[in-house]
Amino acid sequence: MELTRLRGFRDLIGADARAMSLVEERARALAAGYSMKEVRIPVLERTQLYQRSTGETSDIVEKQMYTFVDRDEGETVVALRPEGTPGVVRAYIEAGLDRADPEQRLFYSGPMFRRERPQKGRYRQFYQFGVEVFGRPDAACDAELLIMIDELCRDLKVPFSMEINSIGDQKCRPAFREALVQWGRAHWGELCDDCHNRIDRNPLRLLDCKIDAKLTESAPKSLDYLCGECRAHFDTVKELLIAANVQFIVNPRMVRGLDYYTRTAFEVMAGGLGAQSTVVAGGRYDGLVETMGGAAVAGIGFAIGIDRMALALQAAGLAPSAAPDAAIIAMGPAATRHAIVVARNLREANLNVEMLSPERKMKTLLARASKIGARAAVIIGDDEIARGVVQVRDLKHSTQREVAVAEAARAIAATGKE
Ligand code: HAM
Repeated sequence: MELTRLRGFRDLIGADARAMSLVEERARALAAGYSMKEVRIPVLERTQLYQRSTGETSDIVEKQMYTFVDRDEGETVVALRPEGTPGVVRAYIEAGLDRADPEQRLFYSGPMFRRERPQKGRYRQFYQFGVEVFGRPDAACDAELLIMIDELCRDLKVPFSMEINSIGDQKCRPAFREALVQWGRAHWGELCDDCHNRIDRNPLRLLDCKIDAKLTESAPKSLDYLCGECRAHFDTVKELLIAANVQFIVNPRMVRGLDYYTRTAFEVMAGGLGAQSTVVAGGRYDGLVETMGGAAVAGIGFAIGIDRMALALQAAGLAPSAAPDAAIIAMGPAATRHAIVVARNLREANLNVEMLSPERKMKTLLARASKIGARAAVIIGDDEIARGVVQVRDLKHSTQREVAVAEAARAIAATGKE
């Protein structure tokens, strides 16, 4: 076939799509419990939006955006969104919330696009569930979001570890930045070409170079340069996490690849994923709303990589099965009329039920019931209708029981047990 999908873009069919939906459903339910409101924003925005927020020197803006000239009157340069935060901040300012009602707790979910080198867990179209909280400069808010992430990972039962750091603010970061530049210059000969570029353009990124990882262990650490306020903020975050019994590691080398972060930054890694193991990432971005033309309002947020979280679920064997509880087999037209009602009643009793085609033979239908993974087959013929019963066949144990129609749901629930 010539019309194949593009590299880095995926079709998700059946179980793969189901695992993604499950992550999203759980995240939505959790967001409701944290008093968050949904925001839906466009997939296409002005390229400038990302240049001004994500940052000119970030990998995303430098190399990864799908950007093109939209042939409207203004020849606007537009991009498929590579992340959600800039769009949400723009929407927040454009709705006038930064002045009228600055304290907002928002969440969003949808596809993002980055032209990265595809590999397992890294795609060119991927899905994020993101949270952005505005107007809360206090450390309790940082802790609350980290507790929310902890709760999500526990709820999904994926093995995970949480790393946090503080990268300081406009006041104390310049000294840290300068120390990194000095360190980089002193080690020029040992650093890779990418790091040579980073020294002037974005020295913080020296710390997450994969090639020079060993060498950068001796580089300056942000925690040693924090001002009094940033230190107190970080101490409170840690204290609150301990109080809430959240396990975390302080990783003084974590800097994050996006430009807008201040103070708390964090990443959550899940097991079984290989190189692309970061399933959630985020941090505080107190200056961003103002930089983008809004009021001086604090911000903090994170995004869950839904694709990776779903892969982690599947790797841990925790992905839910989409197989039906029961397959309904009706023999003949009268039985079909009866069976359609039985199927509806079973669904009302919260069972997942698939009615099989009445136009096939019993043997074929039983084989089909097993193939779709049903635990039980419910068999209905004229004789069963006359007596007000159904046959419930346990497909795992090849046993069969006749029960009253009203008892069918209970009989199905008892099938397939060890
Ligand atoms: P990010 O670290 O660029 O942050 O992405 C967040 C998460 O999205 C990653 O940890 C990963 O799970 C997932 N992700 C990123 N790129 C890909 C990809 N190519 N394929 C699959 N999954 C991917 C942000 O996007 C920030 N907007 C997070 C944030 C919100 N910070 C504050 N508020």
